[in-house]
This record gives sequence, structure tokens and C-alpha cells, in this order.
Amino acid sequence: MAEVRRSGPSGNFWYAVEFANKLRRGQVIAVVWWKTAIALYRDEAGKPSALEDRCAHRQLPLSCGRVEGERLVCQYHGWKYDGAGRCVEISHELGKGRQKFPKIGIRSYPVKERYGLIWIFPGDPELADTVPLPEIPELSGPKPWPIVPIDVTIGAHFSMIVENVCDFNHAYLHRHKQPFVDPTLSEYTRVGDTIHVTYQTSFAKSMIAKLASENGGKGLDRIKLWYQYPYQGSDILGKYLHWLFMLPIDERTTRCFFVFLFGPIEIPFLRWTIPRPLKPLALRLANLLYVEPLLAEDKFILEAEQAGFERHADRPMIELNPAVIEFQKLTLEKAREYQTSELTRSLRRRQAESEQAARASALAEESLLEAAPGVDASAAQ
Ligand code: FES
Ligand SMILES: [Fe+2]
Repeated sequence: MAEVRRSGPSGNFWYAVEFANKLRRGQVIAVVWWKTAIALYRDEAGKPSALEDRCAHRQLPLSCGRVEGERLVCQYHGWKYDGAGRCVEISHELGKGRQKFPKIGIRSYPVKERYGLIWIFPGDPELADTVPLPEIPELSGPKPWPIVPIDVTIGAHFSMIVENVCDFNHAYLHRHKQPFVDPTLSEYTRVGDTIHVTYQTSFAKSMIAKLASENGGKGLDRIKLWYQYPYQGSDILGKYLHWLFMLPIDERTTRCFFVFLFGPIEIPFLRWTIPRPLKPLALRLANLLYVEPLLAEDKFILEAEQAGFERHADRPMIELNPAVIEFQKLTLEKAREYQTSELTRSLRRRQAESEQAARASALAEESLLEAAPGVDASAAQ
């Protein structure tokens, strides 16, 4: 199914684009959602905003500009934009002797901050309020679970990554670390835009389960996974969970934000449960010694899969896991749905942009003609 490997994501969902603590007050950074360059900045009061990464004047990336108060300022001629994308100040004259301020604006994107991440809504902004962020009860209550998230940029299409994380048939790849062994698919169902998958498998053989999970991993033999478009997650008996928020950058690049939620962690050999204040330290160690090396195996293999796909895009793939076929259908379905809805909107946007540019340039031209004595304005038109 080569089409799925080239399909885009639906923009009508919230996408994590950066860790909240990586964007300081007064800082602007460049992020990309599916080939769309976005300037993400935090104003001096702490509010994040996202604008298209393009100055309306000469298309300079605004991400190389600077933040001033609530505004993002283009580095070249100092045009200033507010968080809604309106150009509110221009540092130079507006045409010779001209006072009237032109109406200029660029696209802005709805932004939210939650779970330690910054999220943007790249699609139709009118839908943003109706589409919820994923619900993570473990992070929402008065006592949220401590987390130490990890991000990895993988040179592969996002559909490959969903399939990798949800398809336990790749236990072979991890045969040395054995995070799960002998998986069997118990069930898979689709409910709305979510595919639920359950596997029976043993988690007790991995080094981390033996050393640090409750009872050395005994009884951890069932995992529920989901592809809740466009997110992915898993849950082992409500004790060890994860969420994966993918930021599709282009057909062959995806940034992955992994949030691991580890319930009881024990001190190796002593079998004492690590107290909450020490958990971040334990999680950091677990990431370093186990999770990151495991993800490195997946990253390596996914990039090899992407290369293989590009070399043999015209050859059929053979899929034996029915859940994977469902994932691919869902990915394609959402891509097509979005494409159709975006077509009219992007035409309208382009039209409005051309009109705005024509209006602003006409103002400048008019002022030039007014200012030049002896030039017949009507003749110049
Ligand atoms: S290019 Fe941005 S102000 Fe001129
Ligand atoms: Fe894996």
C-alpha cells in the first residue's frame, strides 16, 4: 500500500510541536508541521503564539526575528506582528508622505500548552475548539505522575512509526533486550477514529521489568494499544503506559514525543518501591539505560524501512497482521478527508493573500504618484 507511505496527516487535530520548557519567554523557534514552516514564539508575558514562518513583506522567515513584548518582529525591516498574525507596526515610512496604515496579515495557528508540550492546530482554525487534546488522566489530577519525556526524530513516514509501535510482531528486532516476547494478537477493534489492539505477551523477561517493575514483572502479560488518530498509546494493566505524539514533518521525517507513564518502580534487588520525589531520577536512569537504547533499535530499523520503501515503492508489501491493515486504512481515510476539506480553504486563502498584496502595493504606488508633481496619475494606470 504505497499510497499510505506518501499520504499526509490531517491538520484538523492538535499536534505537539515542542516541549514547553524549550521555549523561553522572549524566544522564537522554527517548527515544521508537514512541510509547513511555523514560527513559534513565547511573548514576554509567557503566552505562546504560532505564526506562519513568513514575513508578508519579503517572505523572510519570522523565526529569525525577535520577540518584543507581545509581538514578533521581522529582522529585516522591522515589521511587527501580533499573536493573531496582524502586522501592527512598520518601522519605516509607509510610502512617501503616506499615513494610512495598510491592512496586512499572515496566518496564525491556535496554540495550547499541556502535558509539558506545546500543541498547535494546523488545519481549519474554526474547528480547533471542537477538537479535544488527548485525555491523559494520569497527568491531569492534583497528583500527576512524574514523567521524563523523550523525543526522537526518525527518518520515516509517520504511518511506519504507528505500525512499528503497535505491531508486536517485531519482537524479533528486540530479541536481545526482550521488552516483550511471544506476542499473540487477542483482539483489534475500531471505534470511531481509534483502533484498539490487545496482545497477550510476557513482559517479565526484560532486564528493566525484572529489576525495577512491581514483583519483577510477574503478571504483566497483557497490553492494550491504541492508534487514536493521530496519536498512539499503550497500557499494561493500568500500571505502565505510554503516549506517542507524532509531529509529521514530511514524507520521510517524523519527530516523536514519547511520554512514558511508569507506575510502581522498585529499587533493584531490594524490592522497595521508589518514593515519588525520587521517581524523576529513576525515570532518567531507565531512559538512559533501557528506553533510549530500545528506541534506537526502532529508529534504525524504521529508517532502513523508509529507504527500502523508496527503493522499491512499486513492489507490493505483504502484511500478515490484520491490525496493521486497519491502521493503514485509518491513516489514508483521514488524509483524504483532510485533503478534500482543505482544497477550498487553501484556494480562498491564496486569493485573499493576492488581494492583500495588491491593495498594499496600490497604496504605495498611489502615494508615489501623489508625491511626484507633473506625473499624470490616470495615465500611469
Ligand atoms: S522582509 Fe520582513 S520586514 Fe521586510
Ligand atoms: Fe520496537
